[in-house]
Amino acid sequence: MRDPQRVQEVLHGMLKAGLDTIQVISDFDMTLTRFAHNGKRCPTSHNILDNSQLISDECKIKLKDLLNKYYPIEIDSSRTVEEKLPLMVEWWTKAHELLVQQKIRKDQLALAVQESDAMLRDGYQWFFDCLHQHSVPLLIFSAGLGDVLEEVIRQAAVFHPNVKVFSNYMDFDETGVMTAFKGQLIHIYNKREGALLQTGHFQELRARPNVVLLGDSLGDLTMADGVQEVENVLKIGFLNDKVDERKQSYLNSYDIVLLQDETMEVPNAILDFLVTNDK
Ligand code: TMP
Ligand code: MG
Repeated sequence: MRDPQRVQEVLHGMLKAGLDTIQVISDFDMTLTRFAHNGKRCPTSHNILDNSQLISDECKIKLKDLLNKYYPIEIDSSRTVEEKLPLMVEWWTKAHELLVQQKIRKDQLALAVQESDAMLRDGYQWFFDCLHQHSVPLLIFSAGLGDVLEEVIRQAAVFHPNVKVFSNYMDFDETGVMTAFKGQLIHIYNKREGALLQTGHFQELRARPNVVLLGDSLGDLTMADGVQEVENVLKIGFLNDKVDERKQSYLNSYDIVLLQDETMEVPNAILDFLVTNDK
């Protein structure tokens, strides 16, 4: 924590305003899901498809090459966001073009998720159930694949009615074969623009100007930019990779930085504090 006093003030501000003024906005990949398990990397929503039988071997190689080229750029602390942005757009565009060529069937997504190594962070059940039980809206804001991540939370039995997802969704033809992606591309650095387009959602939640934000990338910091007349934002960041190099920049931007923490313990403790002490 860079400024524990600020964290304390924000939490007390939220407590004073009440639980019914709070919403949670969270990234998905490597924020709600684990980064690694037993020393092995866990898949992102893209990787779930990339590793599945829905993708040809030739396409798998191409997607892996893209990952090997662009992921090091994503986490490179020596490059500015301005430098990275066009490269990240390039990554997403190329990966999505490859996925569209694969004639992915909607009815095969559930099996791909079932057979994958995707794992939500330890404590996820308490996190989702607590928000549901207390009617706190959870927005999952992801540059991953909406159809895939929905399936992950559905299979984990935590896709409760208080959960809403903004992400990249596939478009299917009448026979259930994917033909394109819908709407505007969401990539790692345009969550602000994505948020500003969702005026209806944030208008509905205008009575909830206090935000608990969870992310793992510096691009996630703008996820709450669509919130109307925002009062407090408590930003919790998971730093999973290249920890020493990136620690300072994360401390400068997130209120709480969790280093290689594969659990929801800290967000859950904060929620517990807010629900237990609610007036
Ligand atoms: P997020 O904003 O929901 O975390 O999603 C972004 C992550 O997806 C980011 O860490 C990079 C990752 N990704 C892949 O793993 N494979 C891909 O093909 C693409 C485009 C992104
Ligand atoms: Mg992420």
